[in-house]
Amino acid sequence: MQQFVRWKWKLYINMLSWSEQYATGVALVDAQHQMLIRQINDLERMLLNPPLVKEDCDNLLRFLSGYLETHFRFEEECMQRLRCSAYHQNKKAHAEFLAICMQFQELYLEAGPEAELLKHFQMDAANWISDHILTLDLRLRGCVARQ
Ligand SMILES: [Fe+2]
Repeated sequence: MQQFVRWKWKLYINMLSWSEQYATGVALVDAQHQMLIRQINDLERMLLNPPLVKEDCDNLLRFLSGYLETHFRFEEECMQRLRCSAYHQNKKAHAEFLAICMQFQELYLEAGPEAELLKHFQMDAANWISDHILTLDLRLRGCVARQ
């Protein structure tokens, strides 16, 4: 948790864009990843256009956390159904990221729409989602191809 507090604010544009390299072959999973990327980019846009409006941040974060849980559940069910070898590893990675999100939510509840805190979370979320799709979620490709 302390890492959020110690983090130093820097202007760093960190927009993700979905491309075929992220395609898992499961249309709904890909559509959900695109939505997650859009939300994370919207948070970056808010940070680049201050002042931060608490109601806007609250709405975006509420939507994002709900959407993450729904998406993770759906993707885990897909992996299970397709007997994907990444199922357990993926489920564990999801739980770990949800724990990071919970830590962030607690800090956000205390601090409110504080730019450094939101920026740190935005960068963590952007890096995590990109790495996660490219390493674990893409294991779905082979499973879809086997069907
Ligand atoms: Fe995943």
